Amino acid sequence: MKITIFNGSPRGRKSNSNVIAESLLEGAELAGAQTEQVFLIEKDIKQCLGCFSCWEKTPGSCILNDDMKELINLYLESDYVGMATPVYNMYMTGLLKNFTDRFLPLVTPHLQRKEDGSFYHEGRVKHFPRQFFIANSGFPGEHNFDVLKKFFENQNLVLEIYRDCGEALQATVENPSLIEKINQYREHLKKAGSEIVQNGQVCGETKDQIHSKLIRDEEYMEEANRQWNEMLEETDC
Ligand SMILES: Cc1cc2nc3c(=O)[nH]c(=O)nc-3n(C[C@H](O)[C@H](O)[C@H](O)COP(=O)(O)O)c2cc1C
Repeated sequence: MKITIFNGSPRGRKSNSNVIAESLLEGAELAGAQTEQVFLIEKDIKQCLGCFSCWEKTPGSCILNDDMKELINLYLESDYVGMATPVYNMYMTGLLKNFTDRFLPLVTPHLQRKEDGSFYHEGRVKHFPRQFFIANSGFPGEHNFDVLKKFFENQNLVLEIYRDCGEALQATVENPSLIEKINQYREHLKKAGSEIVQNGQVCGETKDQIHSKLIRDEEYMEEANRQWNEMLEETDC
């Protein structure tokens, strides 16, 4: 079984998104999966031109020449695919949005109607991987994920991870209780990764554990502001 995560943070390997993704993949590996994380910032991904050549002139393939061919192959050969992003202006990063726009060649042009009255484009391939999603926000609070949650509603994802206070994930401060919480959080993520491999789903208890609070909002705010003040003093701003 192959599990791939496409990480859409511009911070790449140093991102909070990576802290979450690598723990999940560690658990999946322990359960026997082959795993890979792709840092989109390291790839050449041009913007979709909206020319619809992939539907008309070269059906099923994009006319742009960049890393997307290789990435779409990796996507299709995976059993499970995760997309990871920080919240940027209440949504995903441009990097991840740009990447997902480039999946247009995988669907056919004709409009199809679902029983519920909504419209969709049918896939060109028989087998699409099952998906999961990872987001982390800089602000405290569930509401930071409202737009993303709406977007993924009814998409039957295996798992959705919404981590608020994301900047706490790489705590460098001497705060033993936070470090303990982060270690526990990583263990819960590992468990989720293993469950995906073993059961094709994540149980309610693990989902709840993943979404338990890391740090009190007030404490997070105070620590973030203290660190900013320190940094600004150093740079004399
Ligand atoms: C351009 C920009 C826009 C952002 N917009 C939001 C936002 O709307 N809501 C929020 O909670 N955090 C926002 N953030 C903060 C990031 O979500 C936060 O720093 C996150 O932990 C970064 O994760 P990463 O290390 O995985 O990139 C924004 C950050 C940047 C640089």
